[in-house]
Amino acid sequence: MKPTILLYDSGMGGLTVYDSIRESLPNAHYLYCFDNAYFPYSEKSENVVIERASMIVQKIAQNYPVDIVVVACNTASTVVLPALRERFRMPIVGTVPAIKPAAEKSVNHHIGLLATKGTVQRSYVANLIEQYASHCIVEKLGSTKLVEIAEQKLHGKTVDLFALKEELSPWQQIQTLDTVVLGCTHFPLLKEEIKSCLPQVKHFVDSGKAIASRVQYLLDNLQIKPNHSEENLIFCTKSFDDQDKLLNILALWGFSHLCELSELN
Ligand code: DGL
Repeated sequence: MKPTILLYDSGMGGLTVYDSIRESLPNAHYLYCFDNAYFPYSEKSENVVIERASMIVQKIAQNYPVDIVVVACNTASTVVLPALRERFRMPIVGTVPAIKPAAEKSVNHHIGLLATKGTVQRSYVANLIEQYASHCIVEKLGSTKLVEIAEQKLHGKTVDLFALKEELSPWQQIQTLDTVVLGCTHFPLLKEEIKSCLPQVKHFVDSGKAIASRVQYLLDNLQIKPNHSEENLIFCTKSFDDQDKLLNILALWGFSHLCELSELN
């Protein structure tokens, strides 16, 4: 039986997590929700982000046999996991910055956390740093602009390299910075561009593979719900202006339908 995996993010970023999961579970049934009405999450209040998470999971889980939920967004995961786990019975997997592997990889013990403005200031992240990277210098850079640039790139727009460079300028002169955590699921979409602005950085680390193995492990130990739908579906919380173009792009990811969440019961 095919497991049904629901992923959600404010936008396209969660597709990087979806890619990693799909590599190990190519035949699962995928549901993906863009909370584009609230994009970007970066500077939204914690309460808003928690309310959105509950609403999205509730709405989709009452219409589809969701076996597992993946919060494919660091900004949300650093606040919504306790509320979701209290409210829903299926396993909830979060995406949080890969501080531990980055601290292990860094030869200079000097790492950077590149994430949204919200993520860099969460206590969840401060705890991760204290727990796994207390022997490192940890630079934090929170950016909403980079999220917007990545989102635009996936909508087919050219990347504004000048703006990208400007955002990363606080780190350009830090020569000992050898490892950077891509602590926002949008940022692997800009990995090559980010690399070109930070030539001193040897390793860029994201959480995709770790999440994929967590999902695989949980599914191996789960009783899968019967599922009658074959197609991978995309939901959004507001209609897109470039809907037709977007559908062509999403087809490359194996999605054929885009439906507004408000159309569900
Ligand atoms: N992709 C998200 C993350 O991992 C959210 C970006 C945003 O909406 O600000 O943080």
